[in-house]
Amino acid sequence: MAKKTNTIEFACSACGRREPKWLGRCPECGEWNSFKESPVLDSRVSPRAKAGQAQHLPLAAVDPQEGKRSGTGIDELDRVLGGGMMRGQAILLGGEPGIGKSTLMLQALALAKTSGRALYISGEESAGQIKLRADRLGLAREGLELFCGSDLSQALTALEAVKPSIIVVDSVQTLHAEEAGQVPGTVNQMKFCAMELVDWAKARGAAIFLVAHVTKEGTIAGPKALEHLVDTVLYFEQTDSDLRFLRATKNRFGSTDELGIFRMGAEGLREVGDPSELFLVRREGQLPPGVCVAPVYEGSRVLLVEIQALTVPAKSGFSRVYSDKIDSQRVARTAAVLEKQTGLHFSDQDIYVNVAGGMRLSEVGVELALACALYSARSGKALPAQTAVCGELSLAGEVRPLSHMKKRLRACENLGFSRLLGPKPHGEEGIEKAWEGRDNLKAALAALYGIS
Ligand code: TYD
Ligand code: MG
Repeated sequence: MAKKTNTIEFACSACGRREPKWLGRCPECGEWNSFKESPVLDSRVSPRAKAGQAQHLPLAAVDPQEGKRSGTGIDELDRVLGGGMMRGQAILLGGEPGIGKSTLMLQALALAKTSGRALYISGEESAGQIKLRADRLGLAREGLELFCGSDLSQALTALEAVKPSIIVVDSVQTLHAEEAGQVPGTVNQMKFCAMELVDWAKARGAAIFLVAHVTKEGTIAGPKALEHLVDTVLYFEQTDSDLRFLRATKNRFGSTDELGIFRMGAEGLREVGDPSELFLVRREGQLPPGVCVAPVYEGSRVLLVEIQALTVPAKSGFSRVYSDKIDSQRVARTAAVLEKQTGLHFSDQDIYVNVAGGMRLSEVGVELALACALYSARSGKALPAQTAVCGELSLAGEVRPLSHMKKRLRACENLGFSRLLGPKPHGEEGIEKAWEGRDNLKAALAALYGIS
C-alpha cells in the first residue's frame, strides 16, 4: 500500500520551527498557541533539480584561479585564515561582547587587499559611531560603504547596489527577516539571515565575515548554531591582559593550528609579530619553588610560558585541583604519575596551577614541565635557572618524543635559556649541546636536581 504523504505541516509563527503535528507550545522558543498550518516544504527534491537544472562539471575543468587568496591587510588574521581570504569564503567570527570584533572587522575592511568595494553591514552601531572609530584609528578606504540597519531584505538590496568583494555583517544576531518568524533574535532568524547572506556572497565570489557574540547563557543561541553554514570559524579570546588571541576551530581552506595574537590599545588592535617572550616572567637569580618554564608550540611559533604550581594540605580531606589554564584532568593525571614515580604524596594535597600571562595551554608537550613545577612546589626545591622543560608524559612515567624540538630549542636559546630538558633526541638531532634528553620522569628530575 502506498504511504500517504502529508501536504500540510505546522509552523511556529514566532520562530519558524516546523512540526508534522500541531503542538500547544513550541519546543524551540517556548511560545504558546503559535503553531499555524503551513504547506509542506518538499526538501527531498528541490524545484530547481526538478526543472532539470542540476549542474555538474569535470574536476579538470575547474578554474584554480577561483581559489586565489587575497590578504586582509592584517598579517595575524591572514595567518589564522590560512594565508588570506578566498573568493566566496564565509567566515564566522565569534567572541564575547567588547573583545574587539568590530574593531578587527573595520580594520580588515579598510586594509583588505581586494579589488572592488567593501560593505559593512552593521545592526549594532550607527554610521556616525563607525565613522568616529574609523577616524580615530586613521582608517579610510575608497569604496568602503556602510549599511546600518537590521532588516535582511534591505541589507540584500544594499548588497545588490554595492556589489562588494568583501562583506562584514556585524552582528548576524541583530538581523531579522519576516520569513523566519516574528520574533527577532531567535536561532531560526539568525540561521535564515546567515544563509541568505552567505548564498549571496558565494554566488558573487565575495568573502563574507559574519560576526556573532558568544552569549553567557550558552552556546546554542550563539555562533555554534552557524558553524556548519560557513567555511571557517574563528574565535576571539581574551587573556588576563590587553592581549587577544584569534583561533580557527574550523577551516576548509587551511589548518586550525594557527594562532593570531593582537594587543588592544588606543590605536585599535595591533599585531604582535614575535610573541615568543610575551608570557615569560623575567627573574633575577634563583627561581621560587613551583615555577617551570616550557617552550610550547602554538601554530607555527614557539612561545615560552611559565607554569606555576602550588600545593597545600587538602582542606576537605580529599585532593582537589584548581586549574583553569591547563585542563584539570591533565594536572590530576600528571600528579598521579609523579606520586607513583617519586613517592611524593599529592593525593592529600589541594593543587593550584596557573600559567603566567593567562594563556590557556592544551599542548601535550607541557606535561613534563607541569610535572617539574608540581614536584618543585611539593618538595620546596626550586628548579635551576635558565632551564626550560618540555615533553609528553606517559602514565608509566616515560618522556615521549615531541615534534618541532629544533624550533623549541632555538626559541629557548634566543631568550637566554642555556638548557632545554626534554625527550631523548633521535638520529641526527643528537648534535645539539643545549638539549638534554631523558626518557623518563625520574631521570629528568634527577638531571634537574643533580642527583645521579
Ligand atoms: P569592539 O570592537 O567594539 O568589541 P566587540 O565588537 O567585540 O563588542 O571593541 C570594544 C572595546 O575595545 C571597547 O571596550 C573599547 C576597546 N577599544 C580600545 O581599547 N581601543 C580602540 O582603539 C578601540 C576601537 C576599542
Ligand atoms: Mg561590536
